[in-house]
Amino acid sequence: MRHMFGWIVTHPWAYPALEVVHIVGIALLVGNLVLFELRVWGLGRALPLRPLARLALPLALAGFALIGTSGLLMFAGQPQELLASRSFVLKMALVMLAGLNAAGFHARGSLDRLDATARLQTVVSLGLWLAVMICGRWIAYE
Ligand code: HEM
Repeated sequence: MRHMFGWIVTHPWAYPALEVVHIVGIALLVGNLVLFELRVWGLGRALPLRPLARLALPLALAGFALIGTSGLLMFAGQPQELLASRSFVLKMALVMLAGLNAAGFHARGSLDRLDATARLQTVVSLGLWLAVMICGRWIAYE
């Protein structure tokens, strides 16, 4: 696999371009989740929750699609190095936990039950995505 995608790291601008796509994806994902989750906490009560969710959540998912695609291509360019990076491995575990937390939020129907559990799930969500971003940035400093 290294041989086939090795050009991604040797190419003059492919890797930085992928990092830019990665950061645009992060802005879409985290930006829309913050908006939606603050509404779950009762901010912006004038905004009906479901129409807001119908706008913000697909944008957050589009952001994750950009992140996943650019991230996997960056990974393919240097798999051994990244698998040897504790920050990278921890980051992937945190991404999975954040995905499970989001699935749990929707599976229990938290959109219609804005109770203490739903609010707790939003705090866990923001905490996990923040931790993912910290790990993502740390990769380059290991
Ligand atoms: C879904 C799977 C993901 C993969 C495979 C992945 C992979 C990567 C890789 C390979 C890098 C470059 C590391 C480097 O060479 O410096 C990176 C950087 C980064 N990632 Fe991810 N990532 C993923 C998801 C995420 C998510 C969900 C976030 C945030 C919510 C995130 C935040 C970051 C940040 C902040 C950086 C540093 C960007 C920079 O320095 O330009 N990543 N990621």
